[in-house]
Amino acid sequence: MARNPWFETVAEAQRRAKKYLPSSVYGALVAGSERGRTIGDNTGAFAELGFAPRVVGHHAERNLTTTVLGVESAFPVLISPTGVQAVHPDGEVAVARAAANRGVIMGLSSFASRSVEEVAEANPNTFYQMYWMGSRDSMVQRMERARAAGAKALIATLDWSFSNGRDWGSPPIPERVDLRTAVKFAPDVLPHPRWLLAFAKSRRLPDLTTPNLRAPGGESPTFFGAYGEWMQTAPPTWDDVEWMRKEWGGPFLLKGVSRVDDAKRAVDAGVTGISVSNHGGNNLDTTPATIRLLPSIAEAVGADIEVLLDGGVRRGGDVAKALALGARAVLIGRAYLWGLAANGQAGVENVLDILRGGLDSAVLGLGHASVDELNPDDLAIPDGFTRTIGVPRA
Ligand SMILES: Cc1cc2nc3c(=O)[nH]c(=O)nc-3n(C[C@H](O)[C@H](O)[C@H](O)COP(=O)(O)O)c2cc1C
Repeated sequence: MARNPWFETVAEAQRRAKKYLPSSVYGALVAGSERGRTIGDNTGAFAELGFAPRVVGHHAERNLTTTVLGVESAFPVLISPTGVQAVHPDGEVAVARAAANRGVIMGLSSFASRSVEEVAEANPNTFYQMYWMGSRDSMVQRMERARAAGAKALIATLDWSFSNGRDWGSPPIPERVDLRTAVKFAPDVLPHPRWLLAFAKSRRLPDLTTPNLRAPGGESPTFFGAYGEWMQTAPPTWDDVEWMRKEWGGPFLLKGVSRVDDAKRAVDAGVTGISVSNHGGNNLDTTPATIRLLPSIAEAVGADIEVLLDGGVRRGGDVAKALALGARAVLIGRAYLWGLAANGQAGVENVLDILRGGLDSAVLGLGHASVDELNPDDLAIPDGFTRTIGVPRA
């Protein structure tokens, strides 16, 4: 009997993703760096926080809606940009459709496998993500293209330092997919017929190119070609961030903040919002979990700009905890990638439903009528839980 494609938790979606995906693709999504401390702490820290539920006085109706950078969202969860190469033939378009169906904002990576035009058509509430890479002219051209496609905000991700190497080993990723790589990867791919069949049915090969980084009239660079361009670009200064923000001219989210002083500097640079983020534990390993860093950052700048968080969110209860500690909304990465791998667009919708349902239960059990009422008193916070970095030592 065919297994019910619906899954009840993100953990189950991950188990299915592991089964369905070739190990190299699965490994690229697990990612993480070095010892894997940060990736583990991102999820583990959420489990350390307890809830403080109320027993009477619950509200029959709860309002989960919010706005992020001026854009409405049915509940405070956004799709975080990821270079979703080779997970599913519909890739980011399937994710964007799922997000649109559930009323949430789509974050699209410039390293994505599908174009910003296709994605913004599938979900008009798309935010476009860029790294600091290439010449200023090429950055302007990429911003103009995203704006013309209808992107409603720019996400600038700046927390990347090209660290590589993992104690559990990195997956091999081909430069491009052709007959030679097909033969080379056959032992990894053939035991995963479901994944192979999905690509066969769609008549698309996982081509590992980056269509959003194509120069006008040129070819789409390969993933590694684009990565090389990025590595060779001199890192940005705060003046560069301000330049990028002005050049974009609309809502601007700086993603990757861990320190209080950086958050304050981002306010000075005129950003609309920040995401407290460590790139899902893929940047400098041993950076503390984002949920530990959130309270001090929200306290420092939460009145000036929108403070979001990403890293480790796997349950609706995690969303509630982040909101209780000062986030306006959270972004999810691996959670929807597992859903996409497990069951395509429906799998991403399934993940969003799990998060929405879990958040609603938390708001109910904590005795609130709206997500806006979540606050630190809703939580049992262990002593020494939080971390504050980037403030002068007393
Ligand atoms: C496979 C993978 C690819 C990613 N690619 C990008 C990217 O292209 N741009 C970006 O801003 N962040 C990228 N990220 C980081 C995510 O946007 C997000 O910060 C992170 O996944 C959040 O942690 P979580 O996976 O625990 O939810 C990537 C993360 C993963 C796991």
